[in-house]
Amino acid sequence: MDKNKIISDIRNAKTVDELNVIRVSVLGKNGIVTGALKSLAQIANMEEKKSRGAELNLIKTEMETEINAAMDALETAETNAKLKSGRVDVTLPFADDNPSGLLHPFTRVIDEVCEIFSSMGFAYATGPHIENDFYNFSALNIGPNHPARDMKDTFYLQDCENLLRTETSAVQIRTMETQKAPVKIFAPGAVFRNESDATHSPMFNQVEGLWIDENVTMQDLLSVLTTFLKEFFCTDEAPLKIRQHHFPFTEPSIEIDVRCEKKNGQIKIGQGSDWIELLGAGMVHPTVLKTCGIDAEKYQGFAFGCGLERLAMVKYGMPDMREFYNSNINWLKHYGFKYYNNPNNANGLNGN
Ligand code: DAH
Repeated sequence: MDKNKIISDIRNAKTVDELNVIRVSVLGKNGIVTGALKSLAQIANMEEKKSRGAELNLIKTEMETEINAAMDALETAETNAKLKSGRVDVTLPFADDNPSGLLHPFTRVIDEVCEIFSSMGFAYATGPHIENDFYNFSALNIGPNHPARDMKDTFYLQDCENLLRTETSAVQIRTMETQKAPVKIFAPGAVFRNESDATHSPMFNQVEGLWIDENVTMQDLLSVLTTFLKEFFCTDEAPLKIRQHHFPFTEPSIEIDVRCEKKNGQIKIGQGSDWIELLGAGMVHPTVLKTCGIDAEKYQGFAFGCGLERLAMVKYGMPDMREFYNSNINWLKHYGFKYYNNPNNANGLNGN
């Protein structure tokens, strides 16, 4: 056995695998040192056997020490090389062509609305898209001859009894019917009307609000809605106009407009000389409360309903409502949101 040659092979091994081959050839079951130790059995002379045995054990220990040291060095070098080649530069900006998806602007608007109303203590409520005459009309005090029942606006199902709800106000009725008073809910969701142009889509979304208790007043209505609009538009500088209106299910009824400027098909709120209507509201009509089994002498409160696409169009300057549902990839890329943006930061708008 050429000890020096083996040691030089160990020291010159370039990889862990190469060193392992040497280790097996020296110390393995059929290795050189192991073979030499086994052949001690053939030495008859005890003295010679002892001294040769001692010598071989020294060689074995020396080989083990050499191999362990070389192995440590090679493993460390290989780990360092891996770390180096797999290094990530966390300071690099995201590439613009990053193929990750974007949030649909409407998803973002729903999140914002949910966050704001939840923070004011309103509970989330839902109802079915397919309604009947009672929940969509008559319980809302919409009499048999009211124009809202006109076949032109309402999508009736073939059975002529059920229909696609035309307003989320139906959720008010369902909630009051089961929960009675007090009740404080908001209900975002889709509604359906037979109309389509730049500011109308046959399917759009509303958020309904309802707060009934013993002392809920018009003042509460105005404060909730003003807070909502300020939070949603992230501004204190959005003058509101409160106009008297008529809804069958509220008395008195109002509509709220926000000051805006309409330019090049875009709407900017807070400045200019135009007004855009944002929502309808009012104090819930006692007849509606009674229909839902609520004592109208003891309880009172307000309701409101607001088109969500309209809010989004105003906040993010989108001129055509139909684009929300056209799956136009350029539109989605322009108005979509990266998921990590702060929901209250209007500048999070991708591309603006
Ligand atoms: N449902 C109305 C609409 O679709 C909006 C609305 C107005 C809802 C007044 C209400 C309300 O709850 O009180 O135009």
